[in-house]
Amino acid sequence: LETLRPTIGLKIPENPMEIVDIPGRTGQSTVLIGEVLSRLDRYVNGSQAVIITDSNVRRCHDPDFPPYDVVEIPAGEAMKNLDTVRFIYDRLRGHGIDRNAFIVGIGGGVVCDITGFVASTYLRGVPFGFVSSSLLAQVDASVGGKNGVNVDGYKNMVGVIKQPEFVICDLNLLKTLPEKEIRCGLAEIVKHGAVGSSTLFEYLEDRFASALALDPRVMERLVHESVLVKSTIVQRDELEHGVRRKLNFGHTLGHAVERAAGLAHGEAVAVGMVKAAAFSVEKGYLSLPEAKRIEKLLERLGLPTNLPCHKDDLWDAMAKDKKRQGDRIHFVFLKALGQAFVEAIPLSEIETFLETG
Ligand SMILES: NC(=O)c1ccc[n+]([C@@H]2O[C@H](COP(=O)([O-])OP(=O)(O)OC[C@H]3O[C@@H](n4cnc5c(N)ncnc54)[C@H](O)[C@@H]3O)[C@@H](O)[C@H]2O)c1
Repeated sequence: LETLRPTIGLKIPENPMEIVDIPGRTGQSTVLIGEVLSRLDRYVNGSQAVIITDSNVRRCHDPDFPPYDVVEIPAGEAMKNLDTVRFIYDRLRGHGIDRNAFIVGIGGGVVCDITGFVASTYLRGVPFGFVSSSLLAQVDASVGGKNGVNVDGYKNMVGVIKQPEFVICDLNLLKTLPEKEIRCGLAEIVKHGAVGSSTLFEYLEDRFASALALDPRVMERLVHESVLVKSTIVQRDELEHGVRRKLNFGHTLGHAVERAAGLAHGEAVAVGMVKAAAFSVEKGYLSLPEAKRIEKLLERLGLPTNLPCHKDDLWDAMAKDKKRQGDRIHFVFLKALGQAFVEAIPLSEIETFLETG
C-alpha cells in the first residue's frame, strides 16, 4: 500500500478489499475490489470534479454519489458514439472543467469507455478514474486502459489507450444490475479463465450457482482473479501488439454476432467463445472434452451458445472488424483451458469453418 499512496494519493482503506496495481506506459492504475462508491471522494484529486454516468446508474445509486457536478447520458451501447462525446465536451466546458480537474465515470463498460476517451482527449487530457458498476466493467471494460467509441457501426473504431488512475469495483452496485447483465459479466470471467487461468475456470464451474446468486465472497474472488488475469496480460503488452490479443478470445466472431444479431456484448462473446473453441478442436489444438466444458459452463450460466443469425449476415459484420489486416485476421485459439495463443489466419479459413462447423 505504501508504494501506491504517493501515486494516486490513496488514504489507507479501512474496509477489507483486494488491490491490484497495474503499472503501464500510459499511466499507473490501481484497481480496488471491494471498495465502495460512497468513499469515492477519498481517491479524487483535483481542483474540481465531475461525474459522467448514465440514466440507469444514476437512478439506482445517486444517493451515494459525492456532491460533484454530474453529466448524465442515456443508457445503452447506442450512446457510445461521437455525438455523445461532443455532448459531454460541451457540458464539461459549461461546468468550467480545466486540466486541474478530475473526471470520474460511474457506470458500466459504455460509461467507462466514453469517460476514458473524453477525459484523455478533452484539453489534451484530464485525470480520470472509474467506479465500475456492471460486472462486465469490473472484470473487463474498466481494466486495461482501452477507451473508445463506435463510429458508423464500427465497434470501438476511435479511441485511445490510457490507464485510469483508479478503478473502484463496488460489489454492492451489482445488486441493482439486471440479471442479463450479470450473465454477460460472467461470460467475460469465463473468457479470462479460458485464456489465462484454469483455476479461475474450475472455480466458476464449481460455484456457478453462487455466482448467479451474487454470493459476495464468490463474487469478490471471481472479480479479483479475473482482474489479475487481465492485468497480467495487459502489463506484458499494454498497446496490443502481441499477447494482449489473447483477450479477444471469442470476440472476433462475438463482435460480428453482436452487430448482426443485436445480442448484448457478453451474450455475443459467449457464442463467439463456443465457436472459437470448436474451431480450436477442428484445427487439432484443443481436446473436444475441454471445448465441451466451455459450452456447458456457458449454458449453466444461462448464456447463448448457438449462432443466432445467418452466416451471410455474420460475414457482412465481420468485414467491419477493425482487427482485420488485409485478408488475414488474428484469431485466438485455445490449446487447453487457461492456455490461449494467437494465429494470423486467412479469413477464408473462418468462412470454411463456419460453412462446415
Ligand atoms: N475497454 C475495454 O477494454 C472493454 C472491454 C470489454 C467491453 N468493453 C465495452 O463495454 C461495453 C459493455 O459494457 P456493459 O456490459 O457494462 O454495458 P453498459 O455500460 O451498457 O451496461 C449495461 C446496462 O446495465 C446498466 N447498469 C450498469 N450498472 C448498473 C447498476 N449497478 N445497476 C443498474 N443498472 C446498471 C446500464 O445502464 C446499461 O443499461 C461495450 O461497449 C464493450 O465494447 C470495453
